[in-house]
Amino acid sequence: MLKGKKILFGITGSIAAYKTPYIIRLLIKAGAEVKVIMTPSAKGFVSKLTLSTLSRNPVLTDLFDEESWANHVMLGRWADVLLIAPLSCNTLSKMAAGQCDNLLLASYFSATCPVVVAPSMDEDMWHHPATRQNISKLEHFGNVVIPVDKGELASGIYGEGRMAEPEQIFQFITGTFFLPKQLSGRKALVSAGPTYEHIDPVRFIGNHSTGKMGIAIAKELHKRGADVTLIAGPIQEAVTIAGIKALDAGTAQEMYDACMAEFESSDIIVMAAAVADYTPAYPSKEKIKKGSDTLMIELKKTKDILKDLGKRKKPGQVLVGFALETTDERNNALVKMKEKNLDLVVLNSLRDEGAGFGFDTNKITIFTKNGPEFRFEQKSKPEVAKDIVDTIIHLYYE
Ligand code: CTP
Repeated sequence: MLKGKKILFGITGSIAAYKTPYIIRLLIKAGAEVKVIMTPSAKGFVSKLTLSTLSRNPVLTDLFDEESWANHVMLGRWADVLLIAPLSCNTLSKMAAGQCDNLLLASYFSATCPVVVAPSMDEDMWHHPATRQNISKLEHFGNVVIPVDKGELASGIYGEGRMAEPEQIFQFITGTFFLPKQLSGRKALVSAGPTYEHIDPVRFIGNHSTGKMGIAIAKELHKRGADVTLIAGPIQEAVTIAGIKALDAGTAQEMYDACMAEFESSDIIVMAAAVADYTPAYPSKEKIKKGSDTLMIELKKTKDILKDLGKRKKPGQVLVGFALETTDERNNALVKMKEKNLDLVVLNSLRDEGAGFGFDTNKITIFTKNGPEFRFEQKSKPEVAKDIVDTIIHLYYE
């Protein structure tokens, strides 16, 4: 699976370093070539001999000794991925601050490949505002952070901060960086988030959609090689995702215009946005003043974007819609698929726990135009996105 792939593996001074031999074994077994760099304090937690034996390469620790200089620039260029696991609080802060006082940091600052880190620290350190800020800085630099686990920590305290398990780290790396790019050369269009319909200059009608599901789908399509455009309604998360073209759409009409402009050149279209069905018929130019005890706002229907896309769909285009239902879920989803001329419809039932707006998880069933149905367990939104994209690839691109 990782044949010919080169992993530069940085190990820092944290108790979780004792798990790194397992990660190396998994990488080597999958065919990767692994070179290990340790920070000086990591040497106290795991033996160099173990690491060099398992990685089949000498373990590097020093920028230079009396006779040689470790070429950190070449190491950073050699690697397909730089993995730093465990990432200690100390190395994290140096990476965020641009401080370079050992070989691992020098390699990090000169790396031209993707960087992925698996933090490991005690719960209080993990939640400290300085750590939170440093993690955001790394994300802003484009580094990928593997989520920490919750469990018993080295201090004996139960909480968040444990390094992800070796198997999870391995899966994360293969799933993030080394997936086959079945969608390369394809264009994908994804919509995400709510729309805000103006009542007056200070008020709007909106909904609780966070955009997380659509963003996760856009990222997954991008990972599989698609050229992705994301049209996002007003959402909290800043949509600056490397390699994804992000467009803003505030209202249902703006989302309609943006989707129509991108539709024709797209091969795969996923409408994950929670578009308002109604908008104020006469939005007020001035702020509406408080007056009588009741206030009537007349609403008119918005255009159904997906339905219009369905009418324009050409052979070869794959159109995917969502159906968020509270009753008669299966039937309603099938009706939406037919009425909107969809190839797939992804059903969320609000009756399922952990599904829908605001949750980090979702539980879906995918219905297909040709009959087969795919039911999935409750999963994190990135995992759900993977299931959706896998289904699209399986049905149309394999
Ligand atoms: N949708 C759309 N334009 C709208 C409303 C919905 O493109 N004006 C899309 C959504 O992005 C979703 C699908 O249609 O992919 C279904 O949305 P949903 O709200 O479940 O259904 P509606 O068609 O709006 O019908 P209802 O609200 O009556 O269930």
